[in-house]
Amino acid sequence: MKRNLFLLLLLLILSWKGEGQTTSEKLSLDKGWKFFKGDIPFPIVKGHRESYNNAKAAGATAAASANFNDKTWQSIMLPHDWEVEGEFDKNENVSQGYRKRGIGWYRRQFKLEATDKGKHLEIQFDGIATHATIWLNGILIHRNFCGYTSMYLDITALAKYGDEVNTLAVRVDADAQEGWWYEGAGIYRHTWLLKRSPLHIVTDGVYAQPIKIENTWKLPVEITLENSATSTTKANIEVSVLDAKGKTLVSQNTQNEIGILKKEVLNLNLSVDNPTLWTLENPYLYQVKTIVKQGDSILDSVVTNCGFRTIRFDADSGFFLNDKNIKIQGVCNHQDHAGVGVAVPESIVEFRLRKLKEMGVNAYRCSHHPPSVEFLDLCDKMGIMVMDENRNFNISPEYMNQLRWMVRRDRNHPSIILWSVFNEEPMQGSEQGYEMVRRMNAEVKSLDDTRPVTAAMNGGLFAFKNVSQAVDVVGFNYQMQSYDRFHKENPTMKLTSSEDVSAFQVRGEYKTDKAKNIIDAYDSEKAIWGATHRNAWKAIAERPFLAGAFVWTGFDYRGEPSPFTWPSASSFFGAMDLCGFPKTAFYIHQAQWIKDKPIIHIAPHWNWADSVGKAIKVMVMSNADSLKLLLNGKMIAGQKVDKYEMNTFSVPYQKGKLEAVGYKNGKEVSRTKVETSDEPFAVQLIPDRSFLNGDGQDAMPITVKVLDKKGREVPTAQNLIQFTIKGSGKIIGVGNGNPNSHELEKVNQRSLFNGLAQVIVQADEDTNRIELLASAESLKPFSLKIPVRKATIIPFVKVINSVVELNEWHISAFSDNKPNPTQEVAENDMNSWLPTKSAQLQLFTEGKYALLRTNFSLNDGSKERKLVFKNLVGKAEFWLDNQLIFKKDHNESTTISVPFNGQNKSYKLVVLIETEKNQRAGLGGLVTIE
Ligand code: GAL
Repeated sequence: MKRNLFLLLLLLILSWKGEGQTTSEKLSLDKGWKFFKGDIPFPIVKGHRESYNNAKAAGATAAASANFNDKTWQSIMLPHDWEVEGEFDKNENVSQGYRKRGIGWYRRQFKLEATDKGKHLEIQFDGIATHATIWLNGILIHRNFCGYTSMYLDITALAKYGDEVNTLAVRVDADAQEGWWYEGAGIYRHTWLLKRSPLHIVTDGVYAQPIKIENTWKLPVEITLENSATSTTKANIEVSVLDAKGKTLVSQNTQNEIGILKKEVLNLNLSVDNPTLWTLENPYLYQVKTIVKQGDSILDSVVTNCGFRTIRFDADSGFFLNDKNIKIQGVCNHQDHAGVGVAVPESIVEFRLRKLKEMGVNAYRCSHHPPSVEFLDLCDKMGIMVMDENRNFNISPEYMNQLRWMVRRDRNHPSIILWSVFNEEPMQGSEQGYEMVRRMNAEVKSLDDTRPVTAAMNGGLFAFKNVSQAVDVVGFNYQMQSYDRFHKENPTMKLTSSEDVSAFQVRGEYKTDKAKNIIDAYDSEKAIWGATHRNAWKAIAERPFLAGAFVWTGFDYRGEPSPFTWPSASSFFGAMDLCGFPKTAFYIHQAQWIKDKPIIHIAPHWNWADSVGKAIKVMVMSNADSLKLLLNGKMIAGQKVDKYEMNTFSVPYQKGKLEAVGYKNGKEVSRTKVETSDEPFAVQLIPDRSFLNGDGQDAMPITVKVLDKKGREVPTAQNLIQFTIKGSGKIIGVGNGNPNSHELEKVNQRSLFNGLAQVIVQADEDTNRIELLASAESLKPFSLKIPVRKATIIPFVKVINSVVELNEWHISAFSDNKPNPTQEVAENDMNSWLPTKSAQLQLFTEGKYALLRTNFSLNDGSKERKLVFKNLVGKAEFWLDNQLIFKKDHNESTTISVPFNGQNKSYKLVVLIETEKNQRAGLGGLVTIE
């Protein structure tokens, strides 16, 4: 297991590099961001000059402009979710989990090598919640309207090189919401800078999805190339298929000429003989390596994973993977986790998927939006099937783009078996809904026709015209009562549940107390529209025409705290809580779904000191044939196992040991116990793994418990635990799975909830050990030493300190007579002065004087400021707000530093340059405020 995990993390790290060995580089942009929580309003535009400038490229003002000072902002590293840092507030949105979302600003500056000039440059944002506006160097480069789609932004034309600084500014509007669940706030997925050859493969530009035709496996590969060079470029394109050991199995190549600023789609057809299939047990992955070459030099290369598997839905017998009939044992999930909100490190995603596999899950529905790419890579590697779902049901251009983006990004993942175009849309039973889905289906098929399209319908199924007629597989949300009728009336339609259950449980609670927003964990309560975990599965398991189940949900999530509201802030639906601690539902599914190993579990715990002699409801989850229950060694009951309902007993409480024993064909196959424990005595920490990777990203959940004097767990403990990290690492979040808790999540303490809490730790880069100390009042503390392994650090874009750069200037006409530096320029005169930049000398042919003018404002309150002019050539006078503040009286190129007394206000700066005629002079380098 540990070895597997290590290999998995290694693969993940390698796949981060993404682009393979190539002249292209993929650099992380996650480090070095500045963040401001709140809005920085743009100045209201009233004057004519401001209106004119405001309408121009690079005319962004305030925090969106390049010359804004962000030194006082908080330094952060992405991924980042500011919502999870906040307190709970009854007046905030219930569905989003009662926390303030608001608006936030991010800025990141970076430099590019002079040698990067000529390369194709792309900035990528993998996900921002929710609406975002993005500027580079004061130029608006994107507006984003979906919190779940990536942005690929070509900055080649706008980038600056060498000494000059590039400034990215992002305004995030998280008041905009797209869901009815917790969505987080901020740049919560990764960001990247890609440097590529002018002739390159576009992002998501390789589509390589194996298909089986009769008995042979074809691998059609489609490659989209783009040429941003100033000349037509010829290239050889070579595609090879490599097995998991890296051995090349087949290759093919083609040549092409790509025109200037043109995109070209090429197709190759490879075949692979007798590939090892991608299965749930052995998710074997091949690599498709696409290389673009010119002569011997590699211009670009991309490595994508692929898996050879067939999928098929059948109207009578459900789902087939590689022609094997498999019942889908799926769960729906949102993406947030305890402590970290939606900014979930990959290792925590891996932990969550591992817990689901442990529960017997074989499929995951990304409800109701596309997941991160790292999530899909993990599903490919771990053998988990995926229903990939877009966020918005809409066929307007923006939303169709979102759908196209999802299919283009995700269509190589063998894990994906279904594209879902909506969830529970009011138009599902109408002609309009039908027409919309027909178009969305066609759009998906134009990009990938190897997987069926579905839609999750919670009604409208029997309407004369409805969406079921426009999809390939009909998805039922909570339609138990209609399974048979629909199948009977539509015998050729392929059917799956897309969402079922919606039952409520609170982990570790065994007595419902509605006044306290508590529901027992015996699978006894469900939403009106839902079913218990047991009933929902029985209905699906007994109907071969249904492909399978998607339980709502695998994990609790923040928001939508049904069936309660405040103080409940997260959902009660999960088979596991927000930390991934199992509830009884987890074991119910284990017993229902796991066939290849014995399962046995008892609910509740056995600490009922105040109920001696009283009947306690005992539920045993098991996949054996029959069960025996023993109390303190004495058999008290036996039952045949009910594989759907599980087994329930009423046991008069007596302290001690309650054991359950499972039998198959009369032989004992499984045994478990719950045991009464005493008062808490000592804290215990249990790491999820034996080490952390020192890549600055790897994080792991650590389970916190308390034990009694005899070393037995205390499942009722609620102690407050304090954490301290020694060494170079941090606590990135804490949780305990209590849906009614309002404790903060980004702190160094947490109360246990029914015996458990979770603390998530992350090691800094390049340390070799960290230590986590856990203590609680009157308990014996615990110290956990976590070895940190040397790990590859993802190459990243160098972090620079905040620079305030004055780079937008205007230059007057050249003259032979000394001009007046304090002269006013008429508000409506946009033509006598011309826009110019710093870091560029002027040729003085028409006169030996010129004025250079710019405006800037200060906003951080610091007083001792200086203006720094690099490579200033010519004699010069510096006029700040019409006052002469400095003079340079020689012609040579030097760095000039001009001190001034800073105030929070707007300034006009004029530099008068004097030189010989026909000489070059002026602002030869960066102008900055320090
Ligand atoms: C469904 C919906 C889910 C969730 C669930 C709660 O109708 O698709 O997003 O709200 O109900 O039961």
